Amino acid sequence: MKKIWVGTSWKMNKTGETAQDWANAVSTSVKNCNAGVQPFVIPPFPYITNVVSHFSDTKMKVGAQNMCWQDEGAFTGEVSPVMLKDCGATLVEIGHSERRGLFGESDKTVNQKVRAALKHGLTPLVCVGDSADEKQWGVSIESVVRQVKIALFQVPLAQVSQVIIAYEPIWAIGENGTPATNEEAEGVHQAIREALSRQYGEPIAQDMTLLYGGSVNLDNASELLDQPNIDGVFVGRTAWQASGYLELLSIAQSKANSTVKEPC
Ligand code: PGA
Repeated sequence: MKKIWVGTSWKMNKTGETAQDWANAVSTSVKNCNAGVQPFVIPPFPYITNVVSHFSDTKMKVGAQNMCWQDEGAFTGEVSPVMLKDCGATLVEIGHSERRGLFGESDKTVNQKVRAALKHGLTPLVCVGDSADEKQWGVSIESVVRQVKIALFQVPLAQVSQVIIAYEPIWAIGENGTPATNEEAEGVHQAIREALSRQYGEPIAQDMTLLYGGSVNLDNASELLDQPNIDGVFVGRTAWQASGYLELLSIAQSKANSTVKEPC
């Protein structure tokens, strides 16, 4: 049975104090969360160590929002995979559309980072997404599949299934975003799964974790999680309040309790 992933990136939000408040508030539920659910949280760099130690005796995975593909050197302002591991992170988010759009992240650097993360035993969580224009032009699937293929370029076959892909339509993210409908989200997820199957074979494609992100909220999370190719949700605003994250966790838990999600 595949786990249902429920995670949040705090983006550039919270202070040490509010980070601690969030961690305190979700602790018990995370500790008690059943084996069918995989919780994760991605704080800003300065809070990773504290969050890791707070959740050290739980199943919570803690990640970083970005990293450099180099181990060390003259790369001012960057953080290396070695440092992330040293801080206790086990996950790293790569290629979020805010990094692509605002900070010049390219498909090429996404791929370099994916390979560096795997080399250091970090789980890469790669974000891919189509723009509003691409959606209008009817090339969402081509665009997203292209991003997935480049992200996985030269990743050893044995490691491909360790990479998590989050489909995050750019038009669905943030305050001005419109959440994808279940059909839109599932359609792209299915296309990603099929492309992975063509490239790496069906068992690997089925094994891979595909998440949906972009205006996930307490009204749409349940139906999104019911889609056969959606293995979890990656959430911004709704999960920044502990109460929102707790609700999402309980939605996922009730699904994990009630259904055995068969590989599609
Ligand atoms: P949002 O952010 O849930 O606030 O739309 C999602 C994301 O950027 O991953």
